[in-house]
Parts: sequence; structure tokens; C-alpha cells
Amino acid sequence: MKPAVILYKSLPDDLRAKLDDHFSVTEVKDVSPETVKQHAEQFASAQGLLGSGGKVDDELLAAMPALRACSTVSVGYDNFDVDALNQRHVLLMHTPTVLTETVADTMMALVLSTARRVPELDKWVKAGQWQKSVGPAEFGIDVHHKTLGILGMGRIGLALAQRAHFGFGMNILYNARRQHEEAESRFGARACDLETLLKESDFVCISLPLTEQTHHMIGAAQLKLMKPSAILINAGRGPVVDEQALTAALKDGTLHAAGLDVFEVEPVPADAEILTLPNVVALPHIGSATHETRYGMARDAVDNLIAALNGKVDKNCVNPQIQA
Ligand code: GLV
Ligand code: GLV
Repeated sequence: MKPAVILYKSLPDDLRAKLDDHFSVTEVKDVSPETVKQHAEQFASAQGLLGSGGKVDDELLAAMPALRACSTVSVGYDNFDVDALNQRHVLLMHTPTVLTETVADTMMALVLSTARRVPELDKWVKAGQWQKSVGPAEFGIDVHHKTLGILGMGRIGLALAQRAHFGFGMNILYNARRQHEEAESRFGARACDLETLLKESDFVCISLPLTEQTHHMIGAAQLKLMKPSAILINAGRGPVVDEQALTAALKDGTLHAAGLDVFEVEPVPADAEILTLPNVVALPHIGSATHETRYGMARDAVDNLIAALNGKVDKNCVNPQIQA
């Protein structure tokens, strides 16, 4: 008999067929308590769980006593209680490599569109306001040869540094737990403490996971350290930034602009004050959302679950130590 698996994300047909070849799949819309209640038997017998979003916590795990592996279609896994998974010897797989270049592209898009006010001026032209040549009211600020500070020099931070350095001649600063020799030798990146990075950067780009340590790492005090001409880009996780403090800083001129792909609450409520600010470029968490990359993530997630349930884990495993 094929192992039972719960799927809570729709997959392209060929990947769904592959999953069906290996497992007996129950597809549900999410992993909310209501859904679990509706499909209690399937959750109770499932050895695998594949999807993205939703909380995978002790309560869900208690309803899934046969579970051996989770496979998330994402690089971030802040929605998983990893301690609870470890206690129950459940493997957690993610997709850390396939989306790197695409998320770095998104970050660069936010850098350019905030600095050059692309969405704002697009609306302006389409509203028929282009009556004569533009003046200072429509000017932006330069990106090339400015200083870009990266919080979190992981794979995505490195791919961003590459774009900024070679494409735009930018000077790169970074703040990370470990020294990154490749970033330093290839892109001339300079490691510095958070305070120095915030003070010296023209663009501060956040590419950090959400953890207890990074929650509200950027609040009112940190925003005050930034230059009034500086721009904050967040494409990591929303709660790394105190959104209320950011809204205040963008309103009172502490900060020039912000480009946000992530928010404290997602979807960001339509009446959130931050969405009313002209100096905010907002995206709906599309860092990895291209046809090619979302396919690649789904493919990797399917392969990850097959590998994990066959006892073969690799670099895509968050907690390989529990297997030993
Ligand atoms: C997207 O935010 C991801 O974690 O993959
Ligand atoms: C999960 O972490 C996601 O937001 O994609």
C-alpha cells in the first residue's frame, strides 16, 4: 500500500501525477483546525504533508500521529514549530535553492521602482497628468553607485549583491552572523554591525528569515539611524520590521521610501495605513512568484517528500539530525 499523504496546495498536473505514483494523496484546501476536523481520518493516517502557508504546530501534529515528513513549497519555514517536529521525529523539507535568483530579481525591482517611483509615475501618466515635461516633483533618486546594505547574507543576499555590484556599480555592506568570504572577494562587500549598516546605506535590503531574534529587528530606533534619503526594502518576512514604526517613519520624513513584498499580516488589510502612502511600493509576497520558479519549487517539494519518506534527506532538509 502506498503511504498516505495530505496535499494542501494545488500542483501542476505532471507533478500531481508523480505524487500520485508514489502516494495515496488526499488534497485539502489548508491545514486549519476546521479542515483537519473534516478529514480527521486522512490526517491521522498521513505519513507526509505537502503544501505552503498555514501553521504547522503542536495542535496539528497531535492530529497527525503517523506523520514522518513535511515538505513546504517555500524557503521560509517560520510557520512550522521545528521543536515540535523534532520531538515527534518529523522531518522538515524546504526549497532553499531554486528560488534564489528570482527573489533577488524581485528585490532589485523594488530598489528600482521605489527610487525611480515607477508605480507612482505609471499611475500619473495613465491618469493624463503628463501635460508638460517633468520637473523636480517627478524626479527620483539614483540607484547606481549608491550604497546597498544587506541584512542577512544568505543565498538571496549574495545574488542581490551580485546584481547590485556588477549591474549597478553599487557599494555593498552586509550584516550577518558569519563572515561571508565569497561576498567580500567577489563583490567587495564589507561586513559591518547593524548600526553602521543602517547609518551608511542608501538602500537597506532585508533578506532575513523570521525567528525570535529577527522579530521587529527594525523598529523606530533603527529607522531613526537611517538617512532621511534612504529606502528600506523588505522581501524577507514582514514581522522583521515593526510596520507601525515604519508607517510613522515614512510619514514624518525619517525615511524616504519603502519597497515591501511582505507585511506583518498577509494579505495586508486593504485599509492598512501603510498602503495609503505614496512613498511605499507594495507587492503581494511575489518574491518567488514566476511561472518557472514556482514550478521548480513545487517540483523540488514533491521530490523532497519522496526522498524524505524513503529515508533519503539532503541539503533541503531543515532537521536532518533527527534521523540519526
Ligand atoms: C517565500 O516567501 C518563501 O519562503 O519561499
Ligand atoms: C511559507 O513560508 C510561505 O509564506 O510561502
